[in-house]
Amino acid sequence: MRLRDAAVLIAALATLAVVNAAGADAIREFLDRHWRRPLAPQGPRPARYSPLEASLEPEACGTCHPAQLADWRTSLHAAAMGPGVSGQLVEMLESDPGSALSCFNCHAPLAEQAPRLADGARARANPVYDTALGAKGLVCAGCHVRGHARFGPPRRDGSLAPTAPRETLPHNGVTRTPAFLSSEFCQSCHQFTPDGFTLNGKLLENTYNEWKASRFARESVQCQNCHMPDRRHLWRGVHDPEMVRSGLTIDARVGAARYRPGDTIAVTLTVESTRIGHAFPTYVTPRVVMSAELVDQAGEVVAGSREERVIAREVTLDLEREIADTRLMPGKKAALHYRRRVDRAGLRARLRVVVYPDEFYTRFFESLLEQGAGRGEAQIRDALAATRRSPFTVFEREMPLT
Ligand code: HEC
Ligand code: HEC
Ligand code: HEC
Ligand code: HEC
Ligand code: HEC
Repeated sequence: MRLRDAAVLIAALATLAVVNAAGADAIREFLDRHWRRPLAPQGPRPARYSPLEASLEPEACGTCHPAQLADWRTSLHAAAMGPGVSGQLVEMLESDPGSALSCFNCHAPLAEQAPRLADGARARANPVYDTALGAKGLVCAGCHVRGHARFGPPRRDGSLAPTAPRETLPHNGVTRTPAFLSSEFCQSCHQFTPDGFTLNGKLLENTYNEWKASRFARESVQCQNCHMPDRRHLWRGVHDPEMVRSGLTIDARVGAARYRPGDTIAVTLTVESTRIGHAFPTYVTPRVVMSAELVDQAGEVVAGSREERVIAREVTLDLEREIADTRLMPGKKAALHYRRRVDRAGLRARLRVVVYPDEFYTRFFESLLEQGAGRGEAQIRDALAATRRSPFTVFEREMPLT
């Protein structure tokens, strides 16, 4: 067991003790209330609150919680109303307000963030709408504030009780609940409900269920243990090379120590999912490409020598059909067995694993622009450019074939 694994295991066991003590039913009940959509407006500001305590702006929280603000700003939760989402919403809010408002449930869930209110098939103005807050995506208050009251995890020692009378603490203290430590907290946005959209009999978004079926759930390693280590608010995922590397064991081997021209070389590249709590990758949007090719002494790729193996859940753009599902469930391995006759000396085998975190969105935004994105066009162009910048190499090795 590596040190990092040990640290995660200890954190997980501590979580297990707290979660068991509280009871899964109580957690469920709390979360059903906490995430009932659409969320209710906060209501009038409590008399004791200063404007700073009543503010829902992340920057206001950050005056007293600077570490969480600094982390959150770098996270994709802070970018949840980025150009890819808001660019689509411009026209959709007019043409199909019901669908448009449903996006806010996960991307900017506070009542104060929705430009309209659903009203049957139509929509009406939202009197509590705050434009600036709406653009800030999944803000602190989206997870921590209901009816102006703060909710949060138990103290690090597991205790729930306040250290001083609550009415003497800023924002009247915190209601502490182990629900914040459990995977179920993340479920409401990272898992479609059973009646949700399916393709080939599988839900389009199934991260929680994948986790539930894995050894990580049995060992009580929650989403937070991997995505919020030490309670950091970073939520790194498939867009982050270090995070992706932390979940994989990648190995490259040459079959024999020596080859002569005319021999057939055998090289094997394997990618094993060793520390990912769900399918790798969990969504239909990323694509991972394992590749092998021969490179000559001048550094040129030998024509026709490239072979690939894709790890992805590939779907058509219209989401009508699943083309293939080669994702790795936890503990599973993909191998690229590369066999080729070498016709000269001095060749090397180059093995790579490249991650395209937004492969589906690149195609999707291209097609949207072709069809016409209306007044959202400039934003969709920005979003498309971002998807083209996101690929990275998680593994690369060149092996001499002498
Ligand atoms: C004026 C300063 C101040 C502001 C503004 C403020 N907080 Fe706090 N917050 C505190 C203090 C002090 C505590 C510790 C309370 C205690 O000991 O129980 C706290 C505790 C918390 C906790 C529990 C932390 C823990 O240690 O487990 C959470 C969660 C929290 N605040 C969220 C927020 C959010 C979200 C906002 C913005 C919407 C916010 N706070 C705004 C001062 C502030
Ligand atoms: C059930 C929660 C949920 C709902 C509802 C939802 N999304 Fe998302 N969305 C997500 C999650 C989770 C991701 C991140 C997936 C990933 O990282 O691969 C995401 C990612 C995206 C992205 C790519 C990231 C980005 O910022 O460019 C776009 C675009 C997007 N959603 C648009 C929408 C639109 C438009 C709607 C409404 C029609 C919508 N989403 C509704 C959960 C949701
Ligand atoms: C996606 C939901 C989410 C968002 C957004 C979010 N938090 Fe948290 N926060 C959590 C969870 C979950 C925990 C408990 C994590 C754990 O214990 O592993 C937590 C813990 C905390 C704590 C306790 C930290 C500690 O060391 O004990 C504070 C304080 C806090 N959050 C403040 C904030 C502030 C301020 C923001 C915005 C800048 C924010 N949170 C945004 C979910 C969220
Ligand atoms: C209110 C809905 C909501 C909740 C609750 C929520 N998320 Fe998210 N999460 C999202 C959305 C939406 C995105 C995509 C943001 C974007 O890129 O536009 C996202 C993105 C992420 C990513 C980045 C994925 C990537 O593509 O790299 C990770 C990791 C993540 N969430 C983990 C968590 C964890 C762990 C929890 C529970 C502590 C959690 N989330 C709770 C809505 C939510
Ligand atoms: C054992 C550690 C571990 C656990 C537990 C875990 N994850 Fe992850 N997660 C990872 C790693 C590593 C990645 C990066 C590789 C990848 O994209 O699959 C990742 C990626 C993601 C992504 C990026 C999108 C994608 O297509 O992969 C999201 C969203 C996410 N996790 C959410 C969650 C949620 C929600 C839970 C709990 C239900 C969870 N994770 C549990 C390790 C973990």
